[in-house]
Amino acid sequence: MEKYVIKGGNRLEGEVTIAGAKNAALGILAAAVLTDEECIIENVPSVKDTRVLLAAIENTGATVKYIDNHTVSICGGTIQNGQELTVDDENIRKIRAGYYMLGALLGKYHYANVALPGGCDIGARPIDLHTKGFELLGAQWEIVKGGKIVVQADRLIGTHIYMDTVSVGATINIMLAAVLAEGKTTIENAAKEPHIVDVANFLNSMGANIKGAGTDVIRIRGVERLKGTEYSIIPDQIEAGTFMVMAAATGGNVLIKNVIPKHLEAISAKLNEIGAHVIEYDDSVRVMSDGRLKSTHIKTLPYPGFPTDMQPQMAVTLALSEGTSVITESIFENRFRYVRELEHMGARIRVDGNTAMITGVESYKGANLIAPDLRAGAALVIAALSADGFSTIEDIRYILRGYEDFDGKIRALGGIIEMVDNEREEQKFRLKVG
Ligand code: UD1
Repeated sequence: MEKYVIKGGNRLEGEVTIAGAKNAALGILAAAVLTDEECIIENVPSVKDTRVLLAAIENTGATVKYIDNHTVSICGGTIQNGQELTVDDENIRKIRAGYYMLGALLGKYHYANVALPGGCDIGARPIDLHTKGFELLGAQWEIVKGGKIVVQADRLIGTHIYMDTVSVGATINIMLAAVLAEGKTTIENAAKEPHIVDVANFLNSMGANIKGAGTDVIRIRGVERLKGTEYSIIPDQIEAGTFMVMAAATGGNVLIKNVIPKHLEAISAKLNEIGAHVIEYDDSVRVMSDGRLKSTHIKTLPYPGFPTDMQPQMAVTLALSEGTSVITESIFENRFRYVRELEHMGARIRVDGNTAMITGVESYKGANLIAPDLRAGAALVIAALSADGFSTIEDIRYILRGYEDFDGKIRALGGIIEMVDNEREEQKFRLKVG
């Protein structure tokens, strides 16, 4: 099993270029099957989640070609319309975003049969808001044998949908199902994340009529057909945020390129507040820090609030900062599982329900760690880079789902990290870096 071996203590310095947004890419790749024409999508991050979804899209009969490592061509015209539109393989069950095939296939073919979504174990993660939206559009759904969900409709008719909870996935899925529906759909209390806007922009470039994405009311006027397009995905807000926090935690100085600074405002504000310096340029940010950082309080919220996907990385940093910090996790109820791992490194964190009370320590000591999920895994890498001595991180398959060339990018910044596959490789690396 692959794992990371990390020797901590180096300040990270230099430049890193951020990949396309994973969570936007997942919505956009699924959306491409809504037309029979070819869509060329650029800046697709080369991570496990996008590759798994592309394989599932290909299995529906669509033609999928990699033009280069980050550019994909998808042509939905080769999908056979019928009752066989099943999306199921052992990999798709492990990711969350397979559910976008429900909205996309339902929108186009009025039928979809998709394996129930998996993804990181960070809470209950129901899909009731997705199915409620499909129902309001005129579809029926049922869970069938083998852990799959079937949605179908004779006609999809535009409607008014109020979302009880702000949900990124449900907002995107309902947009996918509604763009070809008859008449007008309104989504109220919609999510406003940058990737919602990106998926809407992609659909509009295919000829859809979506207004208001990025606000909490999205209005969709159904069109008869969509056409092919060429589109470039926005940079990944969370990958950028992860490197920003990594620079701050290691007392580094890193220029983070290919970002949209506006998307990073909540993260920049917190980093400035704890004593790091964030300088914004047009499409990059520099993060510098020296000396010990200070404590703060953080509450995760839907965009433009502080992202839940950055909560573990910030916690790792606050646990090394002076004073007492409080983190309130208001999106997912099971997002503190990394705390156990950090305690092995000497962190002092007390979790009570959805709140973590963090008492900053002077330093971490290296330890053998297990990544509990994608973002917590990245957070443990930051902890290990800031620690004294060697750490190992197992179960990095989670991290590989969402970060492109994570260890390579860290090495280029002077971090001492290696992905190893066996004991011999680990010993060789440990001897090499001393
Ligand atoms: C997406 C992101 C994930 C991020 C999360 C919040 C993808 C593939 N994943 O996940 O990285 O952490 O947004 O920014 O884009 N909920 C319901 N019923 C539903 C759907 C959601 O109650 O039908 C609840 C969830 O339990 C959670 C909240 O709504 O408490 C937000 O979840 P949601 O925004 O849907 O997250 P995901 O789309 O799963």
